[in-house]
Amino acid sequence: MNSIVISIANQKGGVGKTTTAINLASSLTYLDKKVLLIDLDYQANATTCMGINRGSFKNSIFDCLTEEAVLSEAIIKTENPLIDVLPARTVVEGIEEKIIANSNRDFILHTQLKLVKDNYDYILIDCPPSLGFVTINAMVASDGIIIPVQCEFLAMDGLTQLLNTIRLVQAKKKVNRESLTIYGVLLTMLDTRSSSGFQVVNEIKTYFGERVFQTIIPRNVSCSNATFYGVPVTEFSPKSKSSISYRQLAKEVTSRHG
Ligand SMILES: Nc1ncnc2c1ncn2[C@@H]1O[C@H](COP(=O)(O)OP(=O)(O)OP(=O)(O)O)[C@@H](O)[C@H]1O
Ligand SMILES: [Mg+2]
Repeated sequence: MNSIVISIANQKGGVGKTTTAINLASSLTYLDKKVLLIDLDYQANATTCMGINRGSFKNSIFDCLTEEAVLSEAIIKTENPLIDVLPARTVVEGIEEKIIANSNRDFILHTQLKLVKDNYDYILIDCPPSLGFVTINAMVASDGIIIPVQCEFLAMDGLTQLLNTIRLVQAKKKVNRESLTIYGVLLTMLDTRSSSGFQVVNEIKTYFGERVFQTIIPRNVSCSNATFYGVPVTEFSPKSKSSISYRQLAKEVTSRHG
């Protein structure tokens, strides 16, 4: 398979990275795409949101980053036959020291992914709210990035730093004749009843132009309820506004990249 690896990244917390990762994963399966969802965050939110019990698996993505497990051993099947998950664990002692000691540290995920990549159409990586080596590993392993931006005050905060990090990774990848594309900025949690949200939409569109996805994810209570029940909103409440938007996003993503 000609797989596409996408990092969902923004070091700002609570902007909708995990919600986008799980719902884009679920929405892509409606288009018959086989997806691997990688939870690269110590908070393990994507793992929990996919209904995976944190005590039910032996190896997490972090055991793969420390090279104590190989990716294929850590992948978990889910109820949806088209979604596999590479789970995260919350308590990971000593992982940073082990990774920093690895001379190939920025390329660990990139190297390990090569062995399983061909089994999937899309590999989505839910990044943590930081720009440390874990996020760098995700970006180095990716073909593209989706940047969720919350339609709230200070939405642009930190984006310059994020873009600088992306440029740094692009330079690293260029050496191997690989690229890292910003697939798009995704506007999330738009409160359609207030004008300030739309002001943010205009601001972001002025700055990023064509790189903003046409799909905007509205703020919608079904989204947070779905998180509570450990299922993507696209399955929990398929007719809700947020589900419809995420299904639309999946169409936009596949129309750009097949
Ligand atoms: N469209 C939406 N409508 C309503 N609530 C939402 C929506 N998207 C996300 N949320 C809620 O907002 C909160 C933050 O979302 P999420 O966890 O996806 O952000 P994040 O960027 O992954 O956060 P972190 O940086 O901590 O990993 C969650 O409680 C989630 O349920
Ligand atoms: Mg998250």
